[in-house]
Amino acid sequence: MRFSVTSLALLSLASVALSVPTVDVYDNKFYYSDNGSQFYIRGVAYQKDTSGLKTDAKFVDPLADEDSCKRDIPYLKELNTNVVRVYALNSSDSHDACMKLLDDAGIYVIADLSSPDESIITTNPSWTLDLYQRYTDVIDEMQQYDNVLGFFAGNEVITNKTNADAAPFIKAAIRDMKGYMSDKGYRGIPVGYSANDDSGTRVNSADYFACGDDDIKADFYGINMYEWCGSSTFETSGYEERTKEFSNLSIPIFFSEYGCNEVSPRKFTEVATLFSDKMTDVWTGGIVYMYFEEANNYGLVSVDGDTVSTLDDFNNLKSEMGEIHPTSAKQSDASASGTSSLACPSAGSNWGAATNLPPKPSKDVCDCLEDSLKCVVDNDVSSKDYGDLFASVCGLIDCSDINANGTSGSYGLFSFCSPKQKLSYLLNKYYEGQKGDKSACDFSGSATLASATSAASTCSSVLSAASAGATVSGSKSGTSATSTKSNSGAAHAVAPPFVGSLEVYFLTLLVALSLGSASLVMM
Ligand SMILES: *[C@@H]1O[C@H](CO)[C@@H](O)[C@H](O)[C@H]1NC(C)=O
Ligand SMILES: *[C@@H]1O[C@H](CO)[C@@H](O)[C@H](O)[C@H]1NC(C)=O
Ligand SMILES: *[C@@H]1O[C@H](CO)[C@@H](O)[C@H](O)[C@H]1NC(C)=O
Ligand SMILES: *[C@@H]1O[C@H](CO)[C@@H](O)[C@H](O)[C@H]1NC(C)=O
Ligand SMILES: *[C@@H]1O[C@H](CO)[C@@H](O)[C@H](O)[C@H]1NC(C)=O
Repeated sequence: MRFSVTSLALLSLASVALSVPTVDVYDNKFYYSDNGSQFYIRGVAYQKDTSGLKTDAKFVDPLADEDSCKRDIPYLKELNTNVVRVYALNSSDSHDACMKLLDDAGIYVIADLSSPDESIITTNPSWTLDLYQRYTDVIDEMQQYDNVLGFFAGNEVITNKTNADAAPFIKAAIRDMKGYMSDKGYRGIPVGYSANDDSGTRVNSADYFACGDDDIKADFYGINMYEWCGSSTFETSGYEERTKEFSNLSIPIFFSEYGCNEVSPRKFTEVATLFSDKMTDVWTGGIVYMYFEEANNYGLVSVDGDTVSTLDDFNNLKSEMGEIHPTSAKQSDASASGTSSLACPSAGSNWGAATNLPPKPSKDVCDCLEDSLKCVVDNDVSSKDYGDLFASVCGLIDCSDINANGTSGSYGLFSFCSPKQKLSYLLNKYYEGQKGDKSACDFSGSATLASATSAASTCSSVLSAASAGATVSGSKSGTSATSTKSNSGAAHAVAPPFVGSLEVYFLTLLVALSLGSASLVMM
């Protein structure tokens, strides 16, 4: 089809005119950007369950199929929905059609940035170049739509106090996505975290994400909340206690999932309480889990091809949603009260997360590193065997340059590079330590000699800038008013040897690089 210039102009005018206003965060609330009145989340989770999926190949992006959006949006509207949460998007697909349909229906999107096989892992957390790429790909695709409300940098990554060391990696992801949008000149779309409801960590976790400077802290906090089951009350459900606990939180908090199904059908009587004066000073609504009826029995509707059948849960939620009249705060009133700043929780037995954050992953650093190595992992070695190789080489040399520890807050300069790059770095380091004796680059045939190719001047400046960043701003921390002995002590204990080993490495590297360029010249 061909458009004349006039019809194109009319089209773009029309889409500007119909677009919903963007929504911003101020203090602990969301506000419409056009009139400054408060925005509450009346959300529904909208994606077939991805939790059982191991590979990206199988997930269905709910916003990439116009027909299914057309099929479902009328039902979402019937529930007075104004937000859908989606858990995994395919950034290669176009989302234009669904985003427009949602916009027309006054529905915003809050999207997780991770996917089933690309996320920050509870038991082995890291913030890598791979994840950085995945997260920014989703942002590049979604930032163009005014009806994107926010992004989650992680979902239930921290499950209890034993894995609170994952928190710095999630917070670094939040920091870097905010920085990325700012560098790109994108709208500053809010970025937050969606937590589980663990009694041991929930308050520390919320405070941890909310503390620190604006360019570091989370913009909002979600908690997946299943405390109200069947008929309950503000007092007996646990909502009253939770509301007290989060009453001082300086960023918006909402239920990033809710809807206990221990009693079925669900009556959704919690809706009236969630949007009542008992809670609206502290909470910004919530997202019902979930639209699709599946094996886990959390659906509002069952879908069969083009046919949608509403379930009792749907009708109950609809009638509860029809009754709410939450009071609306004005952003102009909020300015008067001022933003409260929150101290980061001190690291201790119940919360072992450093306020020092991992460095921003840099492709330049990893590429330069790779190009500078003279002994690397052989291409024939399966990545399944990397674990054994890491173990054996780390038995021989110090591996802190590639390790990251969210408890102590010490992060190696190359900790964000790929497993292959990190392993090659270590094999090379061992090899250099043996004065470049050829037999030292072997590891039973797993290591092989390579010709370092990087141009000395460009790479050495990239690497030394990164090194400076790692020791100064790479460890950019939240402000900790109550920094404890264990926290600051760890940072001081770790820093000097860390810097020392890098300096030695750079000297070695520079020598290696100049030798490399010399031999290039000779050729
Ligand atoms: C502010 O704008 C929103 C979105 O356009 C609208 O729903 C709301 O009613 C408005 N609030 C006031 C007080 O006009
Ligand atoms: C994402 O979409 C692209 C283009 O449609 C497709 O080739 C790719 O397989 C999709 N990826 C996933 C994980 O579904
Ligand atoms: C903490 O979470 C991990 C991972 O989810 C789990 O395996 C472990 O049992 C939990 N520990 C406690 C004390 O709850
Ligand atoms: C909230 O702040 C007030 C005033 O500083 C304090 O008295 C109260 O204990 C705090 N509540 C919580 C749950 O931290
Ligand atoms: C991380 O640091 C903590 C505190 O310094 C230490 O107890 C822990 O053993 C370290 N973890 C690893 C895997 O080295």
